[in-house]
Amino acid sequence: MTPLDDPAALARLDPHNARRVLAEFPAQCRHACTLTSVPPLRAPRPRAVVVAGMGGSAAGGDLLSVYAAESVDVPILVHRGYGLPALAGPHSLVIAASYSGETAEVLSAFDVAVARNVPVVAVTAGGALAERAEATGRPRVTLPGGLMPRMALGYLFFPALPLLAGCGIDVAPDGEVEETLTTLETLAGELVPERPAAQNEAKRLALAIADRLPAIYGGPATGTVAYRWKTDVEENAKTFALAGALPEMNHNEIEAWRSSGAKDMHVVLLRDRGERPEIARRFRVLHDLIGPAAGGVSEVWGRGEGRLARLVSLTYLGQWTSYYLAVLRERDPWSVPLLDEVKRRLRPPTSP
Ligand code: F6R
Repeated sequence: MTPLDDPAALARLDPHNARRVLAEFPAQCRHACTLTSVPPLRAPRPRAVVVAGMGGSAAGGDLLSVYAAESVDVPILVHRGYGLPALAGPHSLVIAASYSGETAEVLSAFDVAVARNVPVVAVTAGGALAERAEATGRPRVTLPGGLMPRMALGYLFFPALPLLAGCGIDVAPDGEVEETLTTLETLAGELVPERPAAQNEAKRLALAIADRLPAIYGGPATGTVAYRWKTDVEENAKTFALAGALPEMNHNEIEAWRSSGAKDMHVVLLRDRGERPEIARRFRVLHDLIGPAAGGVSEVWGRGEGRLARLVSLTYLGQWTSYYLAVLRERDPWSVPLLDEVKRRLRPPTSP
């Protein structure tokens, strides 16, 4: 029997019970939809939205940006770094997202927003970011604590929808949000550890990838999701992964598939029923050209009818797949010791 179907093995290899957090992800998303800022955000319709975040906290911004690109006429940029881009001025809105509230880059973005008088809202479970929002009277969405930031994706994405609606940007219709939640609820039942590998897409995918390096490719919309799969594999399974997007990778990365290492890689194609026919053709050609060189190829599709359901469900499938890969590789899917060590070494010295 695979360890993925063995409750005792899961309990041993996942001592922090990340599987419970993942199983509760649909409930997290439903709860996240009810969260609002205190005090309420009162800002005119912005000309641009900048989501400042890093790692798992930036991933909510990525989803927002890629989804909104097809539904709203305001650009939504994700800023990963210190400070803010020059376009973030008084007619913009900054969402400073940091689950822990202790991420130096996001604190710097928040400070620059305050200094430049840019409307800014903090999305955080606490830490210095919550303190700064409080001290400067800026609105704050308070998230429940106790999660790993990357596993708090629902909290880092859904609260942005009512925030933006409040300043005149309707990103997603209510019906699409509800359909996303019900799609996730159904999918959770299909991907949880209790569902055996034979009927569990995430387990089967992890078993197919096995010891190979996953190369995850999406299309114009799912390319963002591919990047999230890569970071989930890196942080949960502690192993390298590649991510790329069509059509761009057809113009460069595809040549790398002629290298001898290709056999040690497993291609995962993230498909979407809404993709343009040109993109579907590119996926077929890509499969034909690199499939024989690769160790294996898997193709996966988002669930649900609406674009939001398809994007979020595909992301959720990646969370579970990377979780099961962690178990197969005997890595604790929760802890991220090197990441923590970087933060520890860069922390400013506390004054005596
Ligand atoms: C850890 C994780 C990281 C963090 C990142 C920023 O689970 O996902 O990628 O998200 O180090 O930290 P926060 O999200 O607290 O601002």
